[in-house]
Amino acid sequence: MSYKPQYPYLCSPLKLGTLTLKNRMISAPMGFPELTSEGLLTRDAIAFYELRAKGGAAVVTVGEAVVHYETGRSHGRSINLQHPDALAGLTNLARAIKRHGAAASIELAHGGKFSAVDSLPGERKREAVKYGPVDETLPDGSVVKMMPKEVIKEIVESYGKAAALCKRAGFDMLLVHGGHGWLIEQFYSPATNTRTDEYGGSRENRARLALEILDSIRAAVGKGFPIEFRMSAEESFEGGYRLEEAVELARLIEGRIDLLHVSAGSNEDSFYETHPSMFMERGCNVRFAQEIKKHVSVPVGAIGALNEPDMMEDIIKSGKADVVYMARALLADPELPRKVVQNRADEIMRCIRCFTCLAERMRTQTRICALNPLIGREYESLFERPLSMPKKVLVAGGGVGGMEAALTAAERGHRVTLCEKSGALGGALVSERHIPFKKDVYGIIGTLKRRMELAGVEIRLNAEVDADYVRGEAPDVLIVAVGAEPLMPLKGKNVVLAEDIGKAEIGGRVVVLGGGLVGCETAVFLASEGRSVTLVEMADTLAADANARQRPALMEKVYASCRVVTGVRGLYADEAGLVCENGALIEADTIVAAVGQRPRYEIVDGLRNTAPEVKFVGDCVRAANIREAIFAGYHAGMDI
Ligand SMILES: Cc1cc2nc3c(=O)[nH]c(=O)nc-3n(C[C@H](O)[C@H](O)[C@H](O)COP(=O)(O)O)c2cc1C
Repeated sequence: MSYKPQYPYLCSPLKLGTLTLKNRMISAPMGFPELTSEGLLTRDAIAFYELRAKGGAAVVTVGEAVVHYETGRSHGRSINLQHPDALAGLTNLARAIKRHGAAASIELAHGGKFSAVDSLPGERKREAVKYGPVDETLPDGSVVKMMPKEVIKEIVESYGKAAALCKRAGFDMLLVHGGHGWLIEQFYSPATNTRTDEYGGSRENRARLALEILDSIRAAVGKGFPIEFRMSAEESFEGGYRLEEAVELARLIEGRIDLLHVSAGSNEDSFYETHPSMFMERGCNVRFAQEIKKHVSVPVGAIGALNEPDMMEDIIKSGKADVVYMARALLADPELPRKVVQNRADEIMRCIRCFTCLAERMRTQTRICALNPLIGREYESLFERPLSMPKKVLVAGGGVGGMEAALTAAERGHRVTLCEKSGALGGALVSERHIPFKKDVYGIIGTLKRRMELAGVEIRLNAEVDADYVRGEAPDVLIVAVGAEPLMPLKGKNVVLAEDIGKAEIGGRVVVLGGGLVGCETAVFLASEGRSVTLVEMADTLAADANARQRPALMEKVYASCRVVTGVRGLYADEAGLVCENGALIEADTIVAAVGQRPRYEIVDGLRNTAPEVKFVGDCVRAANIREAIFAGYHAGMDI
């Protein structure tokens, strides 16, 4: 059959200066923290970016390359474009991206008053100064100095030098970070720039730094070399600028750029709008690009929780934007662009916006993704041993860990059968199907099923695996992924498990017992349906099992929609509601229990030593989350 693209607009080329992009899907800038302490690229960092080039993105944008390292690092680890040894790493990076047919771009950045100067090594830390548009003391107590004109001049020049270096290294285009509350935006924002010299006051004055930087870069790279400018279309903190002001900035700079990248939000509002959470609509920031596009003649790009090919095709087709950018979606599935081009949208692992990628950087200075075990170990994965001899593999359990194990083993060439006791795949994820903000989480089941089928996994539903079953099948390897079962802490006709909310009758007044991640999400969902919800947790903290970026988004929803009772233990259910240890009755028609899971130890024990090699993965080892199940499943599949 002849090939006809299902997404012709997303797959169409775009000319930027002298460069032609092969499609409209761009990998947005993402920093990779595992650099040297001097800000030099590592092989791991190069492999991190290369993966998205292999996956078919038109452009891969390297994140956080800092033009003026002493004053400008937006994070503890960012690329140092002033280091005398920077060129080789940059050259290897540009080559790694370009050899897969993607254009290589790099983000020129300066953190301004939010620079992480405190994390400079040794003596330099003591001497380092934070510069912003004006003198101020930040909420964390750090002192910011008004940037003197000679420092402005030096920084403007450093953009030009950095641009020349990147061009020499082989980059095809450059992105100037003018948004998210970093230096350029600090100068443009009337909220943060109250200077009275030619860099403050009028709009033109506040945009002067941006214009000087763009001129400095253009002088360095010459005509025809594409320059992209990333801006925030609004700042959602009090006093921050709004869309009209962003339109004016776009107008002021458009003559100097080739592509306008319209993001939103700022460091000052904790990037709330910048990385839309699972509680916000996919593509919620596209409206900004759509509006700004009406006022400028350069191509405009949209970003923010985009992962759905149909939606992205519509954005280009309807003229809301000329290109789409994705960050998190291309961690979850670096091959997304290729799958779009090849009409394989049903194989895309869609980002669930769990924020693991961002939180893990804060926690461990590494980059990982809950859905993609390859992230962070791209380099070492290049050296994985080829398969010596295909083996017969039996997987017991069709939850996410079992599916990932089966998929990984089958993709590596093993003969795999997956047995699921119930009539449906998905395990613990099945119960998420009713929750609108967990749509992408539930969607993982369909994607993994499709990918397993394509990889040749034989799927048997309603097939319970016990020791006799294993002996009958005689596999070389048994992977046990039989999951966990929910704990039921109370008895009563009005008590249901969180897992059963789609099936059970729930009254108008609900107590959710257990304030972990599951309890909080369940409470938010039930409240969104118009119920009056009280969330009861015996510890003092809610969602202690959520990551540091996920938790604030969830807490905002919890406190906006539910009554919260912490530090109180629920004792028993009676007809009127939940009776607590302190004697209080919390009235409710229904009590929803979300107090945790217990691994299915009995099944696990019954399957030990039933095959020459037995592996245990996921919740049946320790009840945890999707990330742990996927990681365990993947590595079990890889280790065969
Ligand atoms: C892991 C990660 C690292 C990021 N690093 C950068 C960066 O270095 N520079 C930048 O401008 N934005 C960075 N961002 C923001 C993204 O470019 C993007 O604006 C944001 O994630 C929203 O897009 P998304 O919804 O497609 O993820 C990062 C985002 C993520 C998830």
